[in-house]
Amino acid sequence: MSAEAASVHPDVSRVLIDEKALKARIRELGAQITRDYAGRRLMVVGVLKGSLIFMADLLRALGPEVDADVDFMAVSSYAGTASTGTIRVLLDLRENPEGRDVLVVEDIVDTGLTLASLTETLRARKPRSLEVCTLLDKPDCRKAPFQPKYVGFKIPNEFVVGFGLDYDERYRQLPYVGVLRTPSK
Ligand code: IMP
Repeated sequence: MSAEAASVHPDVSRVLIDEKALKARIRELGAQITRDYAGRRLMVVGVLKGSLIFMADLLRALGPEVDADVDFMAVSSYAGTASTGTIRVLLDLRENPEGRDVLVVEDIVDTGLTLASLTETLRARKPRSLEVCTLLDKPDCRKAPFQPKYVGFKIPNEFVVGFGLDYDERYRQLPYVGVLRTPSK
């Protein structure tokens, strides 16, 4: 058994994206975002808590050509039926996004309901531009038509944990993205 295999969490059935692949892809995303926003000041908004590790790595992958401010939001899962779901803002921005170039950083887009609702909320505050960067995308699971501009990895419809993503607040610290052995969410 390799050193890496030996250290995989027993609740993880397999590693979907390892540390090396995550680092390399985040470097690419950082370079792309730097090119797209060169010479501009960017308001990077992390959606807590799942984005925290991705956000930290993505920020460090941005070049000096872009000035990045950091802010955070926290939202509850959608209330009501899945098809009409809206989010509740639990923690709001410190800074006013009006007239700003805003980049929302998320861990995963699944049904798309969270980001469809969150971007609608933010758009109402009249940012100059608004884009979304997600580490993971499950395009087969959409209930709302939402397409993030920046996507780290497209993944199949499996429940994943690690690299900031949790199940019942656990497994966020795993340095890879892995498939949870007993998905029940
Ligand atoms: P959506 O509103 O269905 O797109 O889901 C967004 C949220 O659901 C994410 O920010 C995660 O918190 C959670 N989520 C969806 N799929 C997964 C997963 O595979 N692992 C962990 N959390 C997930």
